[in-house]
Amino acid sequence: LSLIDRPHCEQRDTDDPLRLCRDRFSLPNGIVYLDGNSLGPLPKTAPGAVRQTVEAEWGEGLISSWNDARWVDLPARAGDLLAPLIGAHPGEVVFGDSTSVSLFKLAAALLASSGKRTKIVSETGNFPTDTYILEGLVRLLGDRHDLIRPPMDEVEAAIDDETALVVLTHVNYRSGAMYPMAKITALCRSKGIPLIWDLCHSAGAVPLDLAGDGVEYAIGCGYKYLNGGPGAPAFTYIRASSQAAFDPVLTGWFSHARPFAFEPDYDPHPSIAKALVGTPPVIALAGLIEGLKTFEDVDTGAIRAKSLALSDLFMALVDQELSGHGFEIVTPRGADKRGSQVSLVHDEGYAIMQYLIARGFIGDYREPGLLRFGLTPLFVRFADVWDCIACLRNAMQTGAWDTPKYRARKAVT
Ligand SMILES: Cc1ncc(COP(=O)(O)O)c(C=O)c1O
Repeated sequence: LSLIDRPHCEQRDTDDPLRLCRDRFSLPNGIVYLDGNSLGPLPKTAPGAVRQTVEAEWGEGLISSWNDARWVDLPARAGDLLAPLIGAHPGEVVFGDSTSVSLFKLAAALLASSGKRTKIVSETGNFPTDTYILEGLVRLLGDRHDLIRPPMDEVEAAIDDETALVVLTHVNYRSGAMYPMAKITALCRSKGIPLIWDLCHSAGAVPLDLAGDGVEYAIGCGYKYLNGGPGAPAFTYIRASSQAAFDPVLTGWFSHARPFAFEPDYDPHPSIAKALVGTPPVIALAGLIEGLKTFEDVDTGAIRAKSLALSDLFMALVDQELSGHGFEIVTPRGADKRGSQVSLVHDEGYAIMQYLIARGFIGDYREPGLLRFGLTPLFVRFADVWDCIACLRNAMQTGAWDTPKYRARKAVT
């Protein structure tokens, strides 16, 4: 077995068809950013676009910019930019609100029309906000429903004829493990159960085929792989053929068929606009659109190929360089079973990650003991992966990570 070295990684960067995409981002010198799965970096065009929105459209255009600068269309315009990345059609996606609120919108409406079925299936390891939102909904609906949270490998068996709703995160935020979307969607559809996919860790990282897989409902955030900026609006997807039957319960005026008619009674918009609630966050949407544009002319197949190549390299180098240092790879090795991150566990994971960050290798830490490395294909280089593992090996060999400074806990990990 031949050893991997840095020149090998440099050659792969030279051969990388996506190597020029890195130039679409403002990345600080001297750091290797492996946290695009938490907060995507700044697109170079975002400051100018946001400045234009603030200074010209808001500053000069004032209220007329709702029409002249097409502010009202921003949620759908952003949605149509995302659509090809997730295998959706134009008119099936809108941006606005957070992922948490977007989940509430969909889940509340779907549960309100779920008849006698009382079981809600999610997952033990799901991102907490998803199950917090579902817990609140169960309470709101009079504690009629049971929220079941089996481990990932028992979810399919838990979906039965009593199930009113299934809510799953496609790629797990901790381990990077990925569900078989087509299979679970088909299972739910065969039983007439609405299923909401949370695509926070998939959109922009894993090519999706929502149309081909028969997905009806999905949500996901704008600030991770979509590079939309801190707190960027999230998206809601409703399949075109499911929009007519979808009956909103978060019935804000922007979901009305004629919001500017100011009618006394509610009448839902016939299109995906029925997934909106209130006035769109214009400045945030202006930044988000620049994030979505970083995918312009990029083939989603090339994104996936590089994502898998980067994570294969990362795992191979953990095996080659870090054996005997107490790391365990928790991300599944199979290419069809993982998203675009690699996660390691180590008893001293927190301090080790603080050391890496201090040396310019920015990943993040999740309890208990998990070191997460996001491998974003648009800007991460193969040599970055080499350098990160080399830093980690050096830390473990010298014990340089083991100081009170790196053990001290910060509020946000
Ligand atoms: C899977 C998943 N769902 C939801 C969220 C939270 O979304 P928001 O803060 O937009 O409500 C996150 C954030 O990391 C996440 O990873």
